[in-house]
Amino acid sequence: MPRLANIGCLATCANPAGQDDIGLIRDAALVWRGGTVRWAGPAEALPAEYEEEPAWDAAGGLVIPGLVDAHTHLAFGGWRAGEFSDRLRGRDYLEIAEAGGGIASTVRATRALDEEALFDRAKRFLTGMGSLGITTVEAKSGYGLDLESELRLLRVYRRLDEVGPTRMVATCLAAHVVPPEWAADREGYVRLVTEEILPAVAEEGLADFCDVFVEDSAFSADEARRICERGCELGLRPKLHVDQLSGGGGAELAASLGAVSADHLEYVSEAGIEALAAAGVVGVTLPLAGLYLNQAPPPARALIDGGVAVAVASDFNPGTAPSYHLPFAMTLACARQRMTPAEVLKGATRHAARALGREGEVGSLEPGSAADFAVIDAPDVEHWLYHLRPNACVAAARGGEIRHGVLR
Ligand code: NIG
Ligand code: FE
Repeated sequence: MPRLANIGCLATCANPAGQDDIGLIRDAALVWRGGTVRWAGPAEALPAEYEEEPAWDAAGGLVIPGLVDAHTHLAFGGWRAGEFSDRLRGRDYLEIAEAGGGIASTVRATRALDEEALFDRAKRFLTGMGSLGITTVEAKSGYGLDLESELRLLRVYRRLDEVGPTRMVATCLAAHVVPPEWAADREGYVRLVTEEILPAVAEEGLADFCDVFVEDSAFSADEARRICERGCELGLRPKLHVDQLSGGGGAELAASLGAVSADHLEYVSEAGIEALAAAGVVGVTLPLAGLYLNQAPPPARALIDGGVAVAVASDFNPGTAPSYHLPFAMTLACARQRMTPAEVLKGATRHAARALGREGEVGSLEPGSAADFAVIDAPDVEHWLYHLRPNACVAAARGGEIRHGVLR
C-alpha cells in the first residue's frame, strides 16, 4: 500500500459544501491501494498499520487532488491564429463567423483529419495537460457536425481514456452551430441531431453528456430544449453553453432542463443565478475565453454568494481559448473573477467533478476516491496561484500511478 509522506500542505477538498473549504491539512500523509485512497490526514495521526508501507517523498510541497478540467473542446483540426489577429484589429467574433470563419472553419479542418491524426494531436495536448497536474478532462465533440465526424471525435476520447495520461469524460456537442450544408434547413439539422447523431452516440456508449451552444448565432432556447429532452431520453444529461455572448435566459433554461452544469455565464442575470442555485446546477466559468474575447468576467462573486457551486475550466479550443493551461485560467479566476485561491482550487477539483457527475470519485482525496493527485512546488494554494509559473507541478498520479514527473 503506497503512501505519500512529507506533504507540507494537503488540500483534500473532501467537503462537498463551501466554495472555499478545501480541507487543508499541514504536515500530512496520504495512503492508497489499488488506485483508491485509503487514508488522508495529519502525518502524526498516520495509523500504525501504514507506517511500514513504502513511502514517496512530497518534499514538503503542496498536494492537491488531480485537477479536473470540466470543459474542453480537445480534438480539432487546424488553428485560427489569423482570427486572433483579426479580432485585435477590430473584427468581431460573430462577424468572423458570419463570413465563414470561426467554428465552421475548424469544422472544415477537423473533417479533413482521420481518427489517427485526431488521436495523435489530442494525445499531445493531453500530455501537456497531464504535466500541469490535470488528471481528468471533459472533452466535447462539436467540430464534426455530421454523424461520422461526430462519432470519430468521441471515439478518439474513448481511446484516450484507456491510455491516459488523464481520465476522459466525453460530451456530444453536435449542437454547436448549424453546419453550412444545413444553413437553408436548420430544422433538418436539429432532426439529424435528435434522430441520428444522439441515438448513435448513446448506442455506442460514447458520451455521458449532451451540450448545446445556446446563442442567437447558434441554437434557440426551443431548439436546445428539444435536443436536451432527446438527450435525456437517451441517458445523455445536458451541460449547456449559455449566456456567453448575450443574455438570453440561458441559465434559467439550463436549470429548467436539469442540466448538470451551465457554462460561460458572462451575461447571466440575477434571476438566472437564483434558478441555478435552486436547481443545484454547477456554474462553470471559463476565464481564458473571456480573456481572449476581451469580455467582462462572469459575476462569480454573485454566483457564489447566491449559493451556486462555481467551477473553473479552460474551454480549450482553437477559437476563444487556444490554451489548455488550467493553472493560468485559475490565476485569472482570482485576478478577474475576484475568487480567492481556495475558492478557485475547489472550482477546479471538487466542483469541477460535480459538473461531470463524478463528485467523490475524482476531484477530492478521501477514503474511496481515486488516488489522482498532483504535487505542486509551493508552500500553499495561495502562493501557488499568486506566483504563476510555466509549470509548478512536480509530479502527478492517476489511480496512484505516476504519469508525470518523478517522486523519490
Ligand atoms: O466555448 N461557445 C462556443 N464554443 C466555443 C468556441 C468555439 C470556437 O470558437 O471554435 C466556446 O467558446
Ligand atoms: Fe466551450
